[in-house]
Amino acid sequence: MKKTNILITGGSGFIGSNFIHYLFEETKFKGRIINCDKLTYAANPLNLADIKKKYGGKKYFFERVDICDYSKIEKIFKKFKIDTVIHFAAESHVDRSIHGPKDFIETNIVGTFNLLDVARKYWGNRKDVKFHHISTDEVFGSLGKTGAFKETTPYDPRSPYSASKASSDHLVRAYFHTYGLPITISNCSNNYGPYQFPEKLLPLIILNALEGKPLPIYGDGKNVRDWLYVEDHCSAIWRIIEKGKIGETYNIGGNSEKKNIDIVKKICAILDVKRPVKNNSAFKGGKLKKYSDLITFVKDRLGHDRRYAIDASKIQKELGWKPKHSFEGGLKCTINWYLENTGWVKKIKTASYAGWLKKNYK
Ligand code: NAD
Ligand code: TYD
Repeated sequence: MKKTNILITGGSGFIGSNFIHYLFEETKFKGRIINCDKLTYAANPLNLADIKKKYGGKKYFFERVDICDYSKIEKIFKKFKIDTVIHFAAESHVDRSIHGPKDFIETNIVGTFNLLDVARKYWGNRKDVKFHHISTDEVFGSLGKTGAFKETTPYDPRSPYSASKASSDHLVRAYFHTYGLPITISNCSNNYGPYQFPEKLLPLIILNALEGKPLPIYGDGKNVRDWLYVEDHCSAIWRIIEKGKIGETYNIGGNSEKKNIDIVKKICAILDVKRPVKNNSAFKGGKLKKYSDLITFVKDRLGHDRRYAIDASKIQKELGWKPKHSFEGGLKCTINWYLENTGWVKKIKTASYAGWLKKNYK
């Protein structure tokens, strides 16, 4: 496989930007990365400011392009002689998909179709190329008290988000079976770590707590997710790019099932030590004694999946991958990152952020 000119879609989002850091800093990768991102609300160019400074115009290139724009994607393939695609770009938040599914259908389904179709046309029958599609465990639906998703578990998506991801997975497999496009797919459990947009559970809870805002828990808080530190997801993806078998799917997970309420309590306990309420300027004159006093049970999410759990034995056995970070270690790193990167937090939280994006990234 060539791996010389890698097209990364959605590289300015949470996992994509962690992956670009991982590739340049933790591997022997010598080629070029072309980051194609539309820069939606979820993207943050600050995530890659250091990469741009160090590698911009030499090994790192940025194209502000919507993956729904077929002809612009074609131009990128030609201009950069793309030989590998790692497809992260997506609308990724379940709650937003419930309130407005349209963008999810367009980006996640039509956008994926465009990339596949351009790759098929541009690559022809080449076998030294690869299209890797990043997907989620949510395509498998919701589990009861026991069991875990395997690669062979039938699809049963239940939210507009997971249905759109399932649909894109099917298209990727269809391009392999019908046209012989060299693809791999990974379905990963919930990620957490640096650069995650504070609409997802962990960063939302960390930042709300620090600001003295309510910590919303949907329903009874006993829904279970299987958490993986984002750097471990990145190492798994790279292992699949290097060693994964064409046409195969790999489940990725950290064997780290947690109830939402337990995670929120854990975050509160860590913050009680790292930034005690009495030292937090947000609480001047407040009556709060500890962060967990902010926990607030709210109306449940519509169709809220009860439990996810991943069986990652295939990637462990066949490709020798395993996660490096424990949940406790990863959570502490994540909390430290949000405590230290106040500039990043401030920028992403200001109302002028959308305008700033528009002005600086035409
Ligand atoms: P994110 O929302 O943080 O980032 C998505 C990125 O895609 C953003 O930079 C956004 O600007 C870009 N994008 C959106 N629409 C686009 C379009 N039409 N054209 C070009 N760029 C576009 O998402 P994330 O959490 O980094 O997730 C990345 C991928 O991983 C997604 O495919 C998601 O389904 C999958 N995934 C996420 C998780 C998780 O826990 N976050 C778990 C498993 C799988
Ligand atoms: P989320 O981070 O949105 O990821 P996903 O829905 O893809 O699993 O949510 C993780 C879990 O946390 C999920 O069970 C919903 C729950 N949740 C809350 O209880 N409160 C919140 O404010 C959010 C955003 C999520």
